[in-house]
Amino acid sequence: MNDIDRDRLGPQQLTRVVYSEDEIRRRVVQLGRDIGAAYGPGDNVLVLGMLKGSFIFVADLVRAIPMPIQVDFLLTSSYGKKQVSSGEVRLWYNPTASIEDRHVILVEDIVDSGNTLKRVLPLLLDLKPASLELCTLLHKRLARLERDARWVGFEAPEEFLVGYGLDFAEDFRHLPYIGSI
Ligand code: IMP
Ligand code: MG
Repeated sequence: MNDIDRDRLGPQQLTRVVYSEDEIRRRVVQLGRDIGAAYGPGDNVLVLGMLKGSFIFVADLVRAIPMPIQVDFLLTSSYGKKQVSSGEVRLWYNPTASIEDRHVILVEDIVDSGNTLKRVLPLLLDLKPASLELCTLLHKRLARLERDARWVGFEAPEEFLVGYGLDFAEDFRHLPYIGSI
């Protein structure tokens, strides 16, 4: 299904479909397998999704990880109505799950400027996890990160992408595919 879904979109603008529903599904299954292979049977693994953008990705990813895990979320500030990062990142919700001595996998929808991760990773490391890895569905490779993503779904083009959880001013999150505006 590579056509733009006009019924679901309404009058909103979308120039093209970048990753189809099918491509995403296949890639997420592979990621789940790769993640499962990276941990041992006794490992206490916590998948920590970054809201709101990762909510659909996390829901699909955790069902593709073939081992026992737990799931929680973090909420950071969004871009508002802009397409460029403001550089100001606010953390709105701290997970209730304990992080200490656990193998934490932080899950992002997309790494763009890297500002969010530069702010969030040190906060998580302060909580003394046994290990901390990053899994992102999309990576624009613009950021120089001290600790980069171990698992990347797709190398993303330098375009503003929406759908499958990603928004522009809160629109488009519900699309089952990823498109460019
Ligand atoms: P960063 O801090 O610039 O790396 O971007 C972090 C957050 O900005 C991501 O988790 C997304 O929620 C949002 N974002 C960055 N690029 C895009 C995009 O192309 N489309 C939609 N949201 C984006
Ligand atoms: Mg986000």
